[in-house]
Amino acid sequence: MPGDKSISHRAAMFSAIADGTSVLTNFAESEDCRSTLECLIGLGVEIDRNGPTVRVSGVGLRGLKAPEQPLDCGNSGTTMRLLAGILAGQKFNSTLIGDASLSRRPMARIIHPLTEMGAAITTREGHAPLQIEGASPLKRLKFELPVASAQLKSCVLLAGLFAEGETTVIEPVRTRDHTERMLRGFGADLNVMESGGQRSITVSGGSILTARDVQVPGDISSAAFFLVAAACLTDSCIEMVNVGLNPTRDGIVKELRRFGVNVETADVTESGGEPIGTLKVSDGSELGGKQNRIEGAIVANLIDEVPILAVLGTQLKGGLEIRGAGELRIKESDRIASIVENLRRMNADVTEFEDGFRVNRSALKGAEIDPFGDHRIAMAFSIAGLLAQGETQINNPECAAVSFPDFYETLESVTVR
Ligand code: S3P
Repeated sequence: MPGDKSISHRAAMFSAIADGTSVLTNFAESEDCRSTLECLIGLGVEIDRNGPTVRVSGVGLRGLKAPEQPLDCGNSGTTMRLLAGILAGQKFNSTLIGDASLSRRPMARIIHPLTEMGAAITTREGHAPLQIEGASPLKRLKFELPVASAQLKSCVLLAGLFAEGETTVIEPVRTRDHTERMLRGFGADLNVMESGGQRSITVSGGSILTARDVQVPGDISSAAFFLVAAACLTDSCIEMVNVGLNPTRDGIVKELRRFGVNVETADVTESGGEPIGTLKVSDGSELGGKQNRIEGAIVANLIDEVPILAVLGTQLKGGLEIRGAGELRIKESDRIASIVENLRRMNADVTEFEDGFRVNRSALKGAEIDPFGDHRIAMAFSIAGLLAQGETQINNPECAAVSFPDFYETLESVTVR
C-alpha cells in the first residue's frame, strides 16, 4: 500500500521544523502530500525527493522563512489546518490557499483557538484563503475540542510548540494520534493523560525537535478498498504487508470482523512509533446477518472509510446504518450526499440522514458514477463496480491520485478476469 497520508504529512512538517536532516521512506506519493512538500519548500525548507524517499533538511523551530507567494494546499485539509498551526507562531505573515473544494471547507474551527493564542487571521467568511499574521511567542491555551478532529487537535498542538508555557488539548472523543506519537518520536516534551474517557495532551512551548528517519507505514485507509473487495467477491483472498495498524485508525478492521469478514493480522511489529503488520482477508460466506449499525466513538476511527463501508453495506444481509457521521458533509465532497447519490445510481436502496445513511442489501447495477472530485468516492465506487452486474464508468477517475495515484493499476493487478 502507498505510504499513509496522515503520517506522511506529519513526517514532512515535523522534520522541516526539526534540527538536522531526516530521511522519510515509503512517503506517500499522493497529490495531497506533494502539496505539503511544496508549501514547506515555499517556507525555505530544502527537500530532495526521489519517489517515495524524501530527504528533509530541517531548519529548526525558528528557521522557517517568510514565503514569497501564497502557499497552495491544493485539495488537502490536513496541509492547511496543520500548517496554519505552525504559521500562527511565526514572526512573518503568510497566506494559505486551496482548490475549490478546500476553499469550501470550514476553517473557523482552527481560527478560533489560533486567534486566542495571539495570531491574527483573516478569512473569507471562515474559509480559505487564510491570511495569517503570526505572533511570536504565542499565548498558551487550554482547549477542548468541539468536534472530533485530529486536524484541529494537531493544529493547536503545533501552535503550542511556538507558545510560552504549556498548551493542552482535551479530547472528549479519541481521534487518530499520529501527531502525539510522532512529536514524541522527534523528542518534543509531550504528555498524555487519560481519565474518565477524556484524553488531555499537553505540549511544552519551545520544545526542540530533533531530526529522525521515518519509515511511513502503508495506508490502512487505502487498504480498506481492497479489504472490502476481497471480503465481498467470491473466492477472493488478499494479503497486504506493512500496513499501519494504529488502534485509532483500525475501526474498519474491527467492524469488518463484527460483520463476519475473515480479517487476520500477522507479523505485527512497530515502525517509527506506529504499529504495522500484515492484513489478510478472504471472502466470508454470509456477511452481516443482523441489523448492522455503526455509530458513536468508533466513527472517528473509520471516518475516511465510510464510503467503502457504504459499498460493503449493500452486500450485508442486514444492510448497514451509519449515524453520528455529520463531519462527512464537510470532507473533500459532501460525502453523505456523494455516497447516497451514487448508490442510488447503482440501484441500491438507501435512505439519507443529516448525520449518515442507511443502505439495505441490494443487487448493484453498473452505472455512471460522479465522484464529485472526491478521491475516496472514486475508489469506493470502483469496488462497487466490481460487485455490480454490468459495466460501471467512473467519471473523472484521476481524482484518486489525491491519496492513491496507482489505485487503478493496483486494482487491476489483483483482479482476475
Ligand atoms: C486527518 C484527520 C481527519 C481525516 C483526514 C485526515 C488527519 O480529518 O478525515 O482525512 O490527518 O489528521 P478531521 O480532523 O477533519 O476529522
